[in-house]
Amino acid sequence: MDWGMKNRLSRIIKPKTGHTVMLAVDHGYFMGPTTGLENFEVVKSLLPYADTLMLTRGALRNYIKPENDIPIVLRVSGGTSIIGKELLREGIIVSIEDAIKLNVSGLAFSIMVGSEFERDTLLGLAKVIDWGEEYGIPVVAVTAVGKEMGRDARYLSLASRMAAELGAHIVKTYYCENFEKVVDTCPVPIVMAGGKKIPEKDALEMTYKAIQSGAVGVDMGRNIFQSEDPVAMIQAVRAVVHEEATAEEAFEVFEEKRGK
Ligand code: 5RP
Repeated sequence: MDWGMKNRLSRIIKPKTGHTVMLAVDHGYFMGPTTGLENFEVVKSLLPYADTLMLTRGALRNYIKPENDIPIVLRVSGGTSIIGKELLREGIIVSIEDAIKLNVSGLAFSIMVGSEFERDTLLGLAKVIDWGEEYGIPVVAVTAVGKEMGRDARYLSLASRMAAELGAHIVKTYYCENFEKVVDTCPVPIVMAGGKKIPEKDALEMTYKAIQSGAVGVDMGRNIFQSEDPVAMIQAVRAVVHEEATAEEAFEVFEEKRGK
């Protein structure tokens, strides 16, 4: 692996613990002004606690100061919306030149394995991985799940392994029962996606189980920025990911930091 690729990967997955808390705030690319991301004020308060920020180029340019040194994972797939007819038909939405101009540490691309559009998304991912290899930028493949797709270990290990075989450097996938199967059959690091907002205790429990199963961290959005106390929640997630806290201990961190 070339120096640039290794350097950027180490900006995403922290060498000190081998783990990462990626903050996903890219939802606007298909959901518009998502609750909690209306003006990015919440995101700004979370920046000191996130290892990496995953977002779109529009949000980056409009809401984040260039002086900020948080590593950026740029969403480069999209082109469809939650109210359109073909949500799963994402394509490439950013040129590699613009990604380089933005000095990103990673590129993120969603694949829709098993959907009508799987081929388009897999070829799109392959293209982005070619760019990543050429310029030393790691690619995070996101195994998106549509309504008609599974969320079990069988499906998620298929999609994750395919992403790795196509050359992805990191895979973002959902937690499921037997998550260790997904991790064990994927040769590249896995980060757990957060999914819809659930109670803080449950989100911390899910994070704990994912880390115990071998995930290198989380790429979590709504369960942090929609929490009743996002700053307390991200610190609780950090405790699990970086400090080997149990779910119970992390919930105590949440309670302790809450309201401060
Ligand atoms: C969709 C995505 C997201 O837009 C986002 O990153 C999801 O984060 P979360 O589910 O934790 O809110 O990757 O596939």
